[in-house]
Amino acid sequence: MSSLKDKIIVITGGNSGIGYTTAKAFLAKGAKVLITGRQPGAVQKAVHALGHPAEGFKADQSDMNDIRRLYEYLQGRFGKIDSLFVNAGVAKLAPFETVTEAQYDELMNINFKGAYFTIQQLLPLINDGGSITLLSALNAYTGTPNATVLSASKAALNSLGRTLSRELAYKRIRVNIVNPGIISTPLLEKAGLPDETREHLSNITPLGRLGQPEDIASLVTFLASADASFITGAEYNVDGGLMVHPLIA
Ligand SMILES: NC(=O)c1ccc[n+]([C@@H]2O[C@H](COP(=O)([O-])OP(=O)(O)OC[C@H]3O[C@@H](n4cnc5c(N)ncnc54)[C@H](OP(=O)(O)O)[C@@H]3O)[C@@H](O)[C@H]2O)c1
Repeated sequence: MSSLKDKIIVITGGNSGIGYTTAKAFLAKGAKVLITGRQPGAVQKAVHALGHPAEGFKADQSDMNDIRRLYEYLQGRFGKIDSLFVNAGVAKLAPFETVTEAQYDELMNINFKGAYFTIQQLLPLINDGGSITLLSALNAYTGTPNATVLSASKAALNSLGRTLSRELAYKRIRVNIVNPGIISTPLLEKAGLPDETREHLSNITPLGRLGQPEDIASLVTFLASADASFITGAEYNVDGGLMVHPLIA
């Protein structure tokens, strides 16, 4: 893979799961990485574990003031950045009949509105020829029960990515979308996914296992590299073949 040495990468929601593992992968390839997250303790702990030159910034990506503070911090610290990995997200499931306005707003505000305005506000910092990668989900395309808001928030993100890939092409900024299947991260517990469901999903996945954060990290680092310099507006399912399985829930 082309070198990512000294490239400056910003990862939203990088203190856990896919974001954290992707930060590790970028660092291993010589990049400089800044991660965000809502809990200062968790961000600090992750930065410490990642080691030099990882950096952190406490930000709630669904909060416009935090996004602005992040912009100002990045501008002062780095001036310009090379790649933005829009990873921060939450997954909450609830039957359609019970979804409250507060639940709807939380998912939409973090997964879509937050992503939208993070990209808009940080765009002036992204070098021409840089890249943006959006972490969506297979749910963007499935009819998974109890995921009406989650799936819609991710489908909106894919739509945004496709549009931006055209709209930002004049700056040669590439925008791509990654749709993970079921990846073994703390999110599964936070979403209340029972062990039996995990096992079931693992069993029906053609490749016979759940994904690992490293399965996503390797693609995201590739998409940020010069090896992907002709790839934009693309969507990748990283799901062990789950999408094509006839029994997907
Ligand atoms: N795991 C899967 O099976 C799977 C499947 C499809 C898609 N995804 C997507 O992958 C992304 C990463 O998820 P994960 O599995 O790695 O889950 P995770 O381990 O729970 O990590 C989520 C990260 O996002 C951060 N975050 C959440 N809300 C945030 C906000 N408002 N502002 C800033 N940071 C925020 C969390 O930090 P704080 O909570 O400390 O803020 C954490 O660092 C999400 O967008 C998720 O939808 C995951």
